[in-house]
Amino acid sequence: MAQKSAPKTTKKTAATKKSAASKNTGPITGPLGDADREITGEVLQDTLLDLIDLHLVAKQAHWNVVGRFFRDVHLQLDELVTAARGYADDVAERSVAIGVSPDGRAATVAKGSGIPDFPADWRTDKQVIESIVDALAEVITRLRKRIDETDKTDLVSQDLLIAIASDLEKSHWMWQAQLA
Ligand SMILES: [Fe+2]
Repeated sequence: MAQKSAPKTTKKTAATKKSAASKNTGPITGPLGDADREITGEVLQDTLLDLIDLHLVAKQAHWNVVGRFFRDVHLQLDELVTAARGYADDVAERSVAIGVSPDGRAATVAKGSGIPDFPADWRTDKQVIESIVDALAEVITRLRKRIDETDKTDLVSQDLLIAIASDLEKSHWMWQAQLA
């Protein structure tokens, strides 16, 4: 009998642990069930890290660009900075709305961003445009996978990701056009 109850207790403890990890114990309840909130929260968190890094890379490029088309590229980069910052805020606040605490700390961004490394020091206008095209392509690829992932978990979050993808894809075209 003692043998019988021992595994039962262990099983119950494991189950409790699992539900504590996925269950919303924070102050914001949000509209989603535990499983949907967990998946959607991860998707939003990963997107937040990419967008914060996109804003940082665009600002780094804005300061370090040199060359014949300096002014155009310098100004266009600040448009991207503003857009990426705004999207990051939208995504973080969506995460809060579903009850998941967003993490936009520098160390977390450095670990989790999917944007390719942007070299330090001066960069020519052409080098900068190529780097921004690559960065946007990567962010868009990752974003499109996350749009699929949210299809069954949260259409409201998916709608936000689609709007961001649409705008970034337009931006990707406009940066690519300068390399033609
Ligand atoms: Fe500036």
